[in-house]
Amino acid sequence: MLFKQQVWLRQKLLVLGSLAVGSLLYLVARVGSLDRLQPICPVESRFGGAHNQAEFPLRALQFKRGLLHEFRKGNSSKEQVHLHDLVQQLPKAIIIGVRKGGTRALLEMLNLHPAVVKASQEIHFFDNDENYAKGIEWYRKKMPFSYPQQITIEKSPAYFITEEVPERIYKMNSSIKLLIIVREPTTRAISDYTQVLEGKERKNKTYYKFEKLAIDPNTCEVNTKYKAVRTSIYTKHLERWLKYFPIEQFHIVDGDRLITEPLPELQLVEKFLNLPPRISQYNLYFNATRGFYCLRFNIIFNKCLAGSKGRIHPEVDPSVITKLRKFFHPFNQKFYQITGRTLNWP
Ligand code: A3P
Repeated sequence: MLFKQQVWLRQKLLVLGSLAVGSLLYLVARVGSLDRLQPICPVESRFGGAHNQAEFPLRALQFKRGLLHEFRKGNSSKEQVHLHDLVQQLPKAIIIGVRKGGTRALLEMLNLHPAVVKASQEIHFFDNDENYAKGIEWYRKKMPFSYPQQITIEKSPAYFITEEVPERIYKMNSSIKLLIIVREPTTRAISDYTQVLEGKERKNKTYYKFEKLAIDPNTCEVNTKYKAVRTSIYTKHLERWLKYFPIEQFHIVDGDRLITEPLPELQLVEKFLNLPPRISQYNLYFNATRGFYCLRFNIIFNKCLAGSKGRIHPEVDPSVITKLRKFFHPFNQKFYQITGRTLNWP
């Protein structure tokens, strides 16, 4: 009898203990989020909204992490959308490239900011004629729900190198903010090659070695017809954009630094977007297994980028690397001069 009572008591204590630990964890997570959100950010004044300032960040966070997700999936009623003043807004900033520069990492990291809402998918509206023909309302409907005082950001790296895109974006919004994330051009070209190679291998296809594609076998010079090389001539593409937008509307993100030291790069972007500084070291932690920084929303929720980000690059003949670096050098100098950002690439 006494033994039975002891077991019963032990079980009860166990249940109570689990409940207490669960509640404590929940509270710590919430306090962690709240703590990150203090002091209340003056986003309204920056973006011209009329919301109750004291209410905005917490509500934004709740939506971004929970309800907003439901809205995105379509599990919501019109009444709910109306009740919470949610709208689908055209982007106020676009990450236009560069492919393999770290565009996904940049978007995900900016999305940590309570005033930023990301379009999860690459929409390819401006670079794809078929999509573009569907019209601006089609594009807007692809955007996530957000509060009017939040800003929507999308990324489609193909925009940077596609001829028609600058004019099309200009027609939508001539004062839009444009983000370009770049990496050392040779590393970016190898990363680009690695992605294509992986796709070929998945389909059991063989592919050329990087050296064979990057160097013209007839002239032994850099093969400027190879897309991965052309994409890395950043200044050539930027010059096309500058026919439509002044340089002040662009911000250059150092993709190599975003890998090793993301916070200062993100703080520069916050400044460029006129956002109050809200992303902190707390939100970014180095994951030794992945070899990259990952994202922390609170003590419970965190995530790393997918395995397709941060691939191991094949070894490339050092003489080819030297040749490519020499080739890119004058273009890089011009890029630094135009953008006012010196990146000290070799
Ligand atoms: P690699 O796969 O060559 O390493 P994009 O998103 O534009 O395709 O860029 C992919 C690159 O983002 C990756 O290139 C990787 O180096 C870089 N990157 C930057 N920060 C990262 C992070 N926190 N996690 C994973 N990859 C990151």
